[in-house]
Amino acid sequence: MKTAERIRKDFPILDNDICYLDSAATSQKPAMVIDAIVNYYKNQNANAHRGTYNLSISASNEYEKARDIVAKFINAKDSSEIVFTKNATESLNLVANSYGYENIKSGDKIVLSIMEHHSMIVPWQQVAIKNNAKLEYLLLNDDFEISKEEIDSKITQNTKVVGISSVSNVLGVKTNYEYIIKKAHSVGAVVVLDITQSILHYPFDVQKTDADFVVFSGHKMFGPTGIGVLYAKKELLSKMKPFLYGGDMIEYVSQQTATFAEIPNKFEAGTQNIAGAIGLKTAIEYIQNVGFENIEKIETDLTNYAIEKLSQLNFVDLYIAKDKTKQTGVISFNVKGVHPHDVAEILNTVGVCIRVGNHCAEPLIKFLNLPGTCRLSLAIYNTKQDIDKLIFGLNKVYDVFKKYLEK
Ligand code: ALA
Repeated sequence: MKTAERIRKDFPILDNDICYLDSAATSQKPAMVIDAIVNYYKNQNANAHRGTYNLSISASNEYEKARDIVAKFINAKDSSEIVFTKNATESLNLVANSYGYENIKSGDKIVLSIMEHHSMIVPWQQVAIKNNAKLEYLLLNDDFEISKEEIDSKITQNTKVVGISSVSNVLGVKTNYEYIIKKAHSVGAVVVLDITQSILHYPFDVQKTDADFVVFSGHKMFGPTGIGVLYAKKELLSKMKPFLYGGDMIEYVSQQTATFAEIPNKFEAGTQNIAGAIGLKTAIEYIQNVGFENIEKIETDLTNYAIEKLSQLNFVDLYIAKDKTKQTGVISFNVKGVHPHDVAEILNTVGVCIRVGNHCAEPLIKFLNLPGTCRLSLAIYNTKQDIDKLIFGLNKVYDVFKKYLEK
């Protein structure tokens, strides 16, 4: 089993003594992923699905191999249910455009959690506006959970779509998505599940979960930027209209009309991010090498350590789940009386990278009545020294602002 010290060495950027606590924004990349991308461009580059020469056939094979690996990783029944996109945001826009506009009728209801990322909220807002549908939110209780009563009262007979994340990108709290999916299906609604913040940390089985659409980004799971995934049940995907037109999604074109390729190609217009897919495939192999059991153990220890240390700072407000088993290594907090941006600037002076602000989840921040939050987010390459450095930086923040805070 790989030790935490050994894992850190797999990430070249961390050699530079960076205290990187912003993996929810983007994860760092192991050498294995970087090398796979470099190797592709050095030795294998050609356009996929277009050439009849060996180099192009090999690029096509590598691209399709990546699709197979993704399908197996989330236990999809069939690789044709995996569409490569630019990122989770594009996957979500694809679902709203190709499924939402066609299937949501006037008076229907779309239900999202208040914790959703803008990339889930805004595309469905647009569908609701255009199709005259109602948009409702599942709200959080004081423990940052969505209660069963809330789910049962909001997901009702006229609900047609439910959008939910597996883990909040702001609070790091695991949601009750299994129950939400069951409830949604009981009223005939489809579920769009965003697993971007959990896929790096916990195994996911799409068949067991039974979500209709699942999205995630490669760059938040040790892969490169510019590659994302949409999983959709075959029966839904086959019926949906294309999202973008041209290139690989075409079957035949005449002057006035065109026919389209089978799934998944129907949803992959233009030259695809072949190097990105290879990078994502290698990231999955890296995760499998380390093993989810190992990942969970390292991250749980670190999360507990971070919470313990932060709880000792009486000038810090922590926004964590009451139920410890629901809390992941994404932790939001504020320094009492200090704006999150000031905190981040001072932390930067001691080499600590965190994200502050509304984290692309403004409705949640408004619901919590906060000016924004400071957010640390952990991954397997972090160490207790990283947390200690953060605590050192927060004490510095307190020292700078003490005279104002103690007035
Ligand atoms: N959605 C990303 C985050 O939570 C960028 O930081």
